[in-house]
Amino acid sequence: ENPAYQVEFDTKIDAGGYIEAKDWMPEAYRKTLIRQISQHAHSEIVGMLPEGNWITRAPTLKRKAILLAKVQDEGGHGLYLYAAAETLGVSRDELLEALHTGKAKYSSIFNYPTLTWADIGVIGWLVDGAAIMNQIPLCKCSYGPYARAMVRICKEESFHQRQGYDLLLQMMKGTEEQREMVQDAVNRWWWPSIMMFGPHDKDSVHSGQSARWGIKRISNDDLRQKFVDATVEQAKVLGVTMPDPELKWNAERGHHDFGAIDWDEFWNVVNGHGQGNVDRLAARVKAWDDGAWVREAALEHERKRAAREHQ
Ligand code: ACO
Repeated sequence: ENPAYQVEFDTKIDAGGYIEAKDWMPEAYRKTLIRQISQHAHSEIVGMLPEGNWITRAPTLKRKAILLAKVQDEGGHGLYLYAAAETLGVSRDELLEALHTGKAKYSSIFNYPTLTWADIGVIGWLVDGAAIMNQIPLCKCSYGPYARAMVRICKEESFHQRQGYDLLLQMMKGTEEQREMVQDAVNRWWWPSIMMFGPHDKDSVHSGQSARWGIKRISNDDLRQKFVDATVEQAKVLGVTMPDPELKWNAERGHHDFGAIDWDEFWNVVNGHGQGNVDRLAARVKAWDDGAWVREAALEHERKRAAREHQ
């Protein structure tokens, strides 16, 4: 460790400045960023699967075009994030290897199945809504390449959230059966969505250090509360109810109270035993294996190009 560099780093962090790829940084800071950014990248890539499942069954051409664009955006987010992680000295191959062998985590939410078309709307509204709540503060996180990637990602996420809410508003104007389909999807996705913010602050192992380093600007519980407060109002406009009898406004706190989260379910999913974990990983590994010829062809093309240049 170099104390002079450490002082420079701490001063920059305390002043709310950005650390850049070539700046000196503590090893633990680098490791934390690689962990978080790569988990985030994996979440985007695995997150393409539950919605990709509905592209061929979208009810109209307009909805299909929207869904296709959204799923492609998620692929793009994964790529910017892998690139941001690579600036920290890790290779994309190493990161993908960790995903494919089940060593790396990705967001719990993407292990739930998409059973009906209403799920597509609810993912946009609740899942992307929760993602934005968590990701807006990351646009100001202390690591420059991550912060800058998050700016564009958040703009695209807000389009994703809007399209989901719009889809649901339209279904709510439809038949009784369609309204029931929306309510059923809300019932299944509400709890997993609020679990996305991670464990309670008191149980969050990384929060203290990440806050100190300016990676985490707002805590897991505070973000979850902001999300609940914002979403309850949107549910009223939509005409759906959340599956939580304890959800109610608390005038004293100026926030909504809500029921206890089932952390056994959360950890069960995080540790690989949710409904979709096995299928999600198998789909990613298959895509990687099926794409081997593309990687080989690209390398061969590059080899020939380099050989021509040296002639
Ligand atoms: N799903 C899976 N794992 C989770 C989740 C979740 N929803 N929430 C927390 N965890 C994991 C953490 O990764 C950590 O595991 P690790 O030590 O093996 O890395 C452990 O639970 C303890 O949690 P925390 O100490 O609270 O971890 P952290 O400080 O990293 O906070 C958080 C978790 C809030 C998810 C943070 O990593 C973050 O902001 N990440 C960037 C955003 C992101 O990844 N979003 C992905 C979903 S949104 C989308 O892709 C559309």
